[in-house]
Amino acid sequence: MSKPRWRRAHKGDLEAISAIATRIHPDLPERPEVLSEKMRLYPDGCRVLAIANEIAGYGLAHPWMRQHIPPLDGFLERLPQAADCLYLHDVAVLPDYRGGVARAYVTEIEQIARSSGITTLALVSVYGTRVLWERLGFHPVAADAALHDKLSSYGATATYMLRELGR
Ligand SMILES: CC(C)(COP(=O)(O)OP(=O)(O)OC[C@H]1O[C@@H](n2cnc3c(N)ncnc32)[C@H](O)[C@@H]1OP(=O)(O)O)[C@@H](O)C(=O)NCCC(=O)NCCS
Repeated sequence: MSKPRWRRAHKGDLEAISAIATRIHPDLPERPEVLSEKMRLYPDGCRVLAIANEIAGYGLAHPWMRQHIPPLDGFLERLPQAADCLYLHDVAVLPDYRGGVARAYVTEIEQIARSSGITTLALVSVYGTRVLWERLGFHPVAADAALHDKLSSYGATATYMLRELGR
């Protein structure tokens, strides 16, 4: 079997991305048009894990503001002009293809952030993935009241995390 590799997502990948999202996140549903908006607004951060002609996973990221998170299943409308972080909206990979691929995606995202002058990565950890993200250099950050309210739409264990990239 050839090795899965991350590549930039194309419009035609939306159906596969949406199918994986539905399978992996049955309790956190998002409309395909909400996912495709991110691909349109920030194609650099939106990748699929390709293996032969199949899609085994996806990662969606876009510039955003620290301490702010887009509502689940909500449109971004536009990217902030003064973004101060690259926000990893989601990474999801089919079980058979896991093992090192989240690390590889984050490495790519880190390079994109650095080349755009962004020095912080942000995400919301769900399903108790906090330890996994800590292995990738993220740390939990206390949420202010507004962020705390928004986190609740991501489930009870949702934790806001940042990773400073340094120089
Ligand atoms: C999150 C997901 C993409 C990770 O994929 P993966 O290929 O298994 O991730 P990696 O192997 O690159 O893991 C990164 C690091 O976390 C570690 N790790 C993986 N799973 C872990 C777990 N359950 N608990 C603790 N650490 C874990 C890995 O060992 C690795 O560390 P290392 O490189 O130092 O060994 C995959 O598990 C998935 O699709 N999960 C369901 C969707 C999901 O939860 N997405 C995240 C939403 S916030």
